[in-house]
Order: sequence, then C-alpha cells, then structure tokens
Amino acid sequence: MDSFIIEGGHPLKGEIKVSGAKNAVLPLMAAALLAPGKSVLSNVPKLIDLKIMAHLLRVIGARVDYENEQMAIDATTCTCYEAPYELVSQMRASIYVLGPLLGRYRKAIVSFPGGCAIGSRPVDLHLMGFEKMGAKIEIEHGDIIAECKDGLKGAEIEFPFVSVGATANILMGAVLAEGITTIKNAALEPEISHLVDFLCLMGAKIEGKDTSTLTIEGVKELKPANIRVIADRIEAGTFIIAAAITKSPLKVVNCNPEHLKALMIKLEQAGCHFRVEDNDIFVLSAEEIKPVDIVTEPFPSFPTDLQAQFMTYMALANGCSHITETIYPDRFLHAAELNRLNANISVKNGTATINGVQSLSGAEVMATDLRASAALVLAGLVAKGQTKISRIYHIDRGYDKIEEKLSNVGANIKRVLG
Ligand code: UD1
Repeated sequence: MDSFIIEGGHPLKGEIKVSGAKNAVLPLMAAALLAPGKSVLSNVPKLIDLKIMAHLLRVIGARVDYENEQMAIDATTCTCYEAPYELVSQMRASIYVLGPLLGRYRKAIVSFPGGCAIGSRPVDLHLMGFEKMGAKIEIEHGDIIAECKDGLKGAEIEFPFVSVGATANILMGAVLAEGITTIKNAALEPEISHLVDFLCLMGAKIEGKDTSTLTIEGVKELKPANIRVIADRIEAGTFIIAAAITKSPLKVVNCNPEHLKALMIKLEQAGCHFRVEDNDIFVLSAEEIKPVDIVTEPFPSFPTDLQAQFMTYMALANGCSHITETIYPDRFLHAAELNRLNANISVKNGTATINGVQSLSGAEVMATDLRASAALVLAGLVAKGQTKISRIYHIDRGYDKIEEKLSNVGANIKRVLG
C-alpha cells in the first residue's frame, strides 16, 4: 500500500488548479444510463471512485472510455441490471444506478450498501421514494431487488431531512416516470443543480433548480448529452486551507467561489482574507489563527467533506474551538490521528473540542477515510519534521494527483510505493 512522506515547514507559492468534482461526476455517470447513445463528460479527474463507477457501468453493459479528462459513456445496450456487492462495497455511490435502471429498464438489483468509516449510511429515503413511485422493493440475501413492471409513476415525495444521494437518485428515476414527481426538501448542493442541468440537456423537464422543491414531468425518452463537469469545491476548499495553514500566498484557480462561501466566511473569522477574481481565489492567510466554531450541515452551510481539513487548521488556532458534525456524527476518526501529531482534540457526542497548540510534530499516521487523509496531508505540511501517512489509497479515491499539485507549489511531499 502506498504512503506519503511529507517534510513539514515548506511554504507554498503560486497557482494550484482545481479538478472536476468527483461528487458531481458520479451521478452524471449513472444518469448517462438513462439514454441510448453516447454521452460525453469533460473535465473528469482521474480517481479511483470514478474507475469503480466506470467498471460498474461496464458490468451493466455500457461502454465507457476515458482519456484526457474526457469520459464517453455509451449506454445503447444494457444487458445486466445488477450492481454486485463486490463493487457496491468498494464505492457506495453505486446506489446511484438504482434510479436510472428502474426508470429505463423497470428493474434493478443493487447490493445493499453497508456502513463505512464515516458511520452508518442508510438508503431508506431512496427506497421510500421509489416505493412511492410504484416500485416493489424487497431486500433479499443482502440485495435490494426493485421492480416496477408498468414503469415508475410520478409521486409527491417529501424527505424528512436533506439527502444528496436520495435527491439525485429519485430525480434520475423521475425523469422517465409517467406523470409529475415533486421532490420536497430536495438537497441544494451544487452537484444536484449540475445533475439537473445534465438531465435537462438530455431532454428532461425539471423545474425548481436551486430550490428545495423540484418538479419533474416525466418524458417518454431521453437522448445522450455532453457536459463539462463543475469544479470540485471540496478539493478547492482543501487547497484554500493548505494556503491558510502554511500561511502562504496561494492562488486556487478554476474553482467556483460561490460554492465555497461557507468555508470562506469561517476562514475570514479566523483571520484570512481573499481576493476573488472570476474563478480564482487568492488566499491571504492570517499570521495568527483565531479559533472559530463550525457546524456541518447541508449546503449552503459548512460541508461535512471539509470538516476534517478545518479541524487540522483549528488544531493550530490561538484558543479553543468546537466542531459539531450533524451529517455523520461519528466522522471524527481523524481526531485521534491528529493527536498523534501533537494536536489536542477530544470528541464527545458528535462534537469535537479543539484546543489549539503552538505547533504540530511529524509522526507516522494512518488515513482512515478520504477527507481524513486530506486533513493529515494538511497537518504534514506544517508539522515539524517528517510525517508518514499510510493507507493513502483513500486519498486517491477523491483527489487527482494531490502530491504532484502540492509539490508544484512548493510542498515537500513524496509518494512511496508499497
Ligand atoms: C453526504 C453529504 C455530502 C458528502 C457525502 C460524503 C450532506 C447533506 N451530504 O452525502 O455532501 O459529499 O456525505 O461525505 O452533507 N440518510 C438517511 N437515509 C437515506 C439517505 C441519507 O438517513 O436514505 C442520512 C445520512 O445518513 C446522512 C444524511 O441523511 O446523515 C445526509 O445523507 P446524504 O446527503 O444522502 O449522504 P451522502 O449522499 O452520502
């Protein structure tokens, strides 16, 4: 298993480019299954999660080609309606094929996703939505077996709380359903708006983009479409925090500042300043890091996917801060690893208390999940001496060549193949 060796204390300088968003590509790939013909996604990063999703689409019968950040998906013939455990257990977003398969082929078998390092991740809202649309769903031998012989029917679906996954899945089922579907309390995440754009390009009729009520009038068929994937707001946020924590003047380019407001507000409270020019954010870091509390919530609030990285930043604040995680209350495995680097963090009932320390000190640590790995990389950039991060396959799931991008702006980070 590969690891990273980071020599801390090197300031960053220059421009760092943000890739396309993993969490946007995953539902787009599933959506491509809705139409016969070839859809093309551009600005697609090279990530393990996307490779697994491509594998899944091929198992279903689609042709997937990837070259030069462009992914072509030809879903003319689908021969299998099943997402097997072997793939779902590696990547939970496999559940996204449920909506498109039910919508187009009226049947789907998707292995029931289990828990993962960030906690229990149920899919009951997805299933509730499809049942309301007339699908018959059974759980047998660890599989979700879903069928709707006469096709999905439009329905009014109100989620009790916001779910990105359930909103995307129901949306993809509803576009080919008979009649009108209303999704209330829909997620407002930019990745959902992007999916709406893609589906509309395919010929879907959707109203209410960027609001919490989406109204979908089902159409008989869709056609393939092409789209350029939006910038990854989590990768951008990670680089912004990299600039802030190393107190470096860094320009984060090719991102959407509108998607990063919650982070930027908190960093401003901590003392940072920003100069925003179109799609670029120039970070002017604070000399002294002020402690700031955050609560993770659905968009447009502070994202759970930047919680771990923000914790690393607060580990060096001049005082005590708190982080409350409302999306995945157990998502704090990185706290113990950061403490190995001399941080002072305790976790109780979904809230972390971070007592800022003067400096971090390099050590061997272990990446526990995707965003936790990013938090450890940030810590390594500033820790005194050497930090070795093992199990970095987690980071390869969601960051395209992070070590190259950081080295290019001055970090001393190397991948050790193992
Ligand atoms: C969540 C994040 C997303 C992030 C991803 C991976 C939110 C709203 N979502 O997305 O930004 O990229 O984790 O870190 O911040 N839930 C149920 N039943 C369901 C579906 C969800 O109880 O059927 C719960 C989840 O356990 C969670 C909350 O609803 O507590 C939000 O879930 P959802 O947005 O669907 O999760 P992800 O798609 O994994």
